[in-house]
Amino acid sequence: MAKYLVTGAAGFIGRSIAAALLARGESVRGVDHFLTGKRENLVGLEAMEFVEGDLTDPVVCAHVCSGVEIVFHEAALASVPRSVADPIATNRNCVDATLNLLVAAREAGVRRVVYAGSSSVYGETPTLPKHEEMLPAPITPYAVAKLAGEHYLAAFSRVYGMENVTLRYFNVFGPHQDPASHYSGVLAIFCRKMLAGEQPTIHGDGAQSRDFTYIDNVVAANLLAAAAPGEKVAGRFMNVATGSAISLNQTFDLLCGLTNYKGKPAYGEPRSGDIKHSLADIRLAKELLGYAPQVDFAEGLRRTVEWYRNAQ
Ligand code: UD1
Repeated sequence: MAKYLVTGAAGFIGRSIAAALLARGESVRGVDHFLTGKRENLVGLEAMEFVEGDLTDPVVCAHVCSGVEIVFHEAALASVPRSVADPIATNRNCVDATLNLLVAAREAGVRRVVYAGSSSVYGETPTLPKHEEMLPAPITPYAVAKLAGEHYLAAFSRVYGMENVTLRYFNVFGPHQDPASHYSGVLAIFCRKMLAGEQPTIHGDGAQSRDFTYIDNVVAANLLAAAAPGEKVAGRFMNVATGSAISLNQTFDLLCGLTNYKGKPAYGEPRSGDIKHSLADIRLAKELLGYAPQVDFAEGLRRTVEWYRNAQ
């Protein structure tokens, strides 16, 4: 019987959490329906009990929650531009799936759901860094869907006594992130292109900045969130990031050094729904979880480029 369930286990973040749990000798069940998850991400996770299924189906949710104590809910249809193109699909795979999962988790007696929240809920308010006392102001369907999920988690804590926790991730990157779709995270796209000698495109002027967070920091935050005392974390949401930001232009320069790319970037139209700057205040996660980023951006980028180089 699995103690932990990881949803989106064939996705970048889900597979990374599952790998860390397995490395600790935990019993893990994973679920994915391969809408964006990849079968190759399951390589190395053979000790995990894997269920292929869609969380928009309540029967699947009931099945995967049975016997589980803690859920890491990473399944989602990530990407801001994808949600602009197809808000209904984003809603179905983020909001409907999350509510189905929570209902099933409650019925199965799951103690805690740790949820992949998103920095996008802060919208484009100019205040920096973003801190949790700020009112959410989502500006895209993706951000609305992610925010709905965290409100559902908090409500289920409040009315049913579940110990749910939301971690608002800021631009996660690292090994196993899919570089192949134009909905992929920017660093995955740039690593793949620049290693192949292809010109990357910067949307806008490249002055936009992000608090890019290396995957190991996000995995560590999840493990801390699973273990933290319920009275401290139940119903809470907090930023998970590094607390420093870098512009896309600066990132491109760093990547030139790491990938040996000699060209210039192409500059295209700014992307609809893009925000200019994103930077997190990470004091709350430190206070509630004892979280501190272990891998800084430069080291994370170096490891990521190495991984894509070997994966090519
Ligand atoms: C957003 C959310 C993040 C969410 C993620 C899911 C914010 C601040 N962040 O990240 O919480 O988890 O979506 O996908 O809302 N870009 C290029 N060239 C490319 C691709 C992207 O210049 O080929 C630019 C984008 O226009 C953007 C930046 O890179 O300015 C980052 O884009 P992306 O990696 O898609 O992430 P966000 O939209 O910031």
